[in-house]
Amino acid sequence: MSITVTWYGHACIGLEVGEHRLLVDPFLTGNALAAVSPSDVNPTDILITHGHGDHVGDGLEIAQRTGALIISNFEITSWFQAQGYENVHPQHIGGGFRYPFGYLKLTIAHHGSALPDGSYGGAPCGFLLETEGKRLYLAGDTGLFYDMKLIGEGGLDLAMLPIGDNFTMGPDDALRAVELLQPRLVVPIHYDTFDVIHQDPEAWAERVKAGTEAEPVVLKPGGSLTV
Ligand code: NI
Ligand code: MN
Repeated sequence: MSITVTWYGHACIGLEVGEHRLLVDPFLTGNALAAVSPSDVNPTDILITHGHGDHVGDGLEIAQRTGALIISNFEITSWFQAQGYENVHPQHIGGGFRYPFGYLKLTIAHHGSALPDGSYGGAPCGFLLETEGKRLYLAGDTGLFYDMKLIGEGGLDLAMLPIGDNFTMGPDDALRAVELLQPRLVVPIHYDTFDVIHQDPEAWAERVKAGTEAEPVVLKPGGSLTV
């Protein structure tokens, strides 16, 4: 069976796996690129890569309305519990867990993770999801790191990588990330939302095509692809 992947703008990603609807980094309110409003989404599971406001976003409000399971690192799920939301599953870097929607492992990411109220958000992460015979890597906010080579071992059907620069990898390092990861498909994210992260995703896609085996897919906010 296939997985439908939707980019809602910035780092907000929807994954439809059978009857499961995963929503990653649900920053919609205040996201100038947001393709939907928080009331439009109906996730069964909410995955959060790190504590920054442009990733935690509307997570609490959406969870309270839908009852979705919040999955993140231990510090962030504890923060949601402190807000009175109990349906959480903590994991941590290097650890995987088999959920009804697939096997999800937390990967390293080089970044920060303070929560919007200044609380400690633990270490930031990325996600490696194995489901439906596919392997998907959502890098989260990160700089380039050589261990991406390890993440790519075993093959990747899709990688979603930040290209915005300033806060994360920029286009040059994201291209090197593609070389290390060797995914079948790659989607650039985390650009154009703020003035300091303007990029030309089509120009980057041309470089990916010319220099790697990966097929780049540039989505418009709200756009989807099938993996
Ligand atoms: Ni961040
Ligand atoms: Mn960010």
